[in-house]
Amino acid sequence: MPYNLVVNGQPVTVDVPAETPLLWVIRDILDLKGTKYGCGMALCGCCTVHINGQATRACTTAISSVADQHITTLEGLSEDGTHPVQLAWEEMDVPQCGYCQAGQIMSAAALLAKHPHPTDAEIDAAMDGNICRCGTYLRIRKAIHRAAEIHAKQQSAQPTDADLSRSVEA
Ligand code: FES
Ligand code: FES
Repeated sequence: MPYNLVVNGQPVTVDVPAETPLLWVIRDILDLKGTKYGCGMALCGCCTVHINGQATRACTTAISSVADQHITTLEGLSEDGTHPVQLAWEEMDVPQCGYCQAGQIMSAAALLAKHPHPTDAEIDAAMDGNICRCGTYLRIRKAIHRAAEIHAKQQSAQPTDADLSRSVEA
C-alpha cells in the first residue's frame, strides 16, 4: 500500500506492507544510510530519527503509523553540517568507531530543541537508551553542553525582526 511521508523536507511515497519498519524504508528504499541498524528491538538507539521533532526508534516504528508525518534523518539535520550538535561533535571529537553516533546526534538534537540549556540530569535522561559500545558517554555529555553554547551564539548572531526592518528602511 502506498504511504506518503515528508523525509528531510521532501515529499516521498513508498509502496510497502503496513508493518514495514520505518528503518527499512529509510535505508533500503530511500537509500539514506546514515541511520543505522543495531538491535532491531528499540534497545540501542542507533536507528533514532525525528518524527515531527520527537526522537523515535525507526526499527520498531511501522510505516503505517507515520503516514503523512515529517521524518528527519541525520542527512536532514542541516544542509551543510552546521547544526550545533554536528559542530560540537566534531569539535569534541566524540565518535570512536562511529556506529552509534547518528542515533546519539539525533537524540541530542531533539533534546536541545526542547531544552536549549540542558542540565546533566536532563542529558542523562534524554540519552538513556542510546548505547555506545565504545563508551563515549562523557564526550557526548560535554558535546551536548558545547552544542548548547554554539546554538546560543548562532541565535545571537541572527538578525532580529527589528534589524531586518531597519535594513529595509535604510
Ligand atoms: S536498532 Fe533500533 S533501537 Fe537498536
Ligand atoms: S562510537 Fe563506537 S559504538 Fe559508539
